[in-house]
Amino acid sequence: MSALMAFFYDRTMSALEKACLHDWRTELLAEVKGEVLEVGAGTGANLAYYPSNDVRLLLSEPDDAMRKQLERKVAFIQRDDICLTSLKAEKLTLDDNRFDYVVASLVCCSVANIEASLAEIFRVLKPGGHYIFIEHVAAKKDSKARRWQEWLTPLWRKFAGNCHLNRETEKAMARAGFQFEKIQRDAMPDSVPIIVRSSIHGVAMKPFN
Ligand SMILES: C[S@@+](CC[C@H](N)C(=O)[O-])C[C@H]1O[C@@H](n2cnc3c(N)ncnc32)[C@H](O)[C@@H]1O
Repeated sequence: MSALMAFFYDRTMSALEKACLHDWRTELLAEVKGEVLEVGAGTGANLAYYPSNDVRLLLSEPDDAMRKQLERKVAFIQRDDICLTSLKAEKLTLDDNRFDYVVASLVCCSVANIEASLAEIFRVLKPGGHYIFIEHVAAKKDSKARRWQEWLTPLWRKFAGNCHLNRETEKAMARAGFQFEKIQRDAMPDSVPIIVRSSIHGVAMKPFN
């Protein structure tokens, strides 16, 4: 992402935050505790939603411009239980079975390789650990929204930090081995543009065997 896009990211997202992301982040992140990894942390949109007790947070953001905004926010809130890294989701170079929770919001649409990213998230989670996700995803096959998504994605990716409008993220998560504990689909309100309205959010578990 360019420095300009990173600078305006929070402002660009504010309508979507009000429409639904604020509620979803509040609901999903309230349960987080222990060793927590957030991948693609961006400018730190989730920071305000993590509980202040019993959370040791590793924030990963590979984009330099986004990470600068993130560093500023982390410095501002003055929590000493937060560390930053620039690791990409596809290659986390962290120990197997380390984290109680992995969090990713609006990230699977942008990663270069979704299968490799989910495999890495799965690997670093403890058995019984939880993956908290919020993603905009492909609309139903043969729908008008899906046709727009397929048509626009090649161009959209170039201007929106590699964001794909048409990823079937739920299927990819199931293929990676996750078990869904809670999932809500197609839940963005009508005020959100049709090409990003289809979404999933919830909690998935890495099974014990
Ligand atoms: C749409 S932003 C979402 C930021 C934040 N998570 C949020 O909820 O607002 C997508 C983020 O994913 C990051 N990203 C892109 N490719 C990535 C990768 N391969 N691994 C990890 N993060 C990546 C981008 O740099 C960007 O910060």
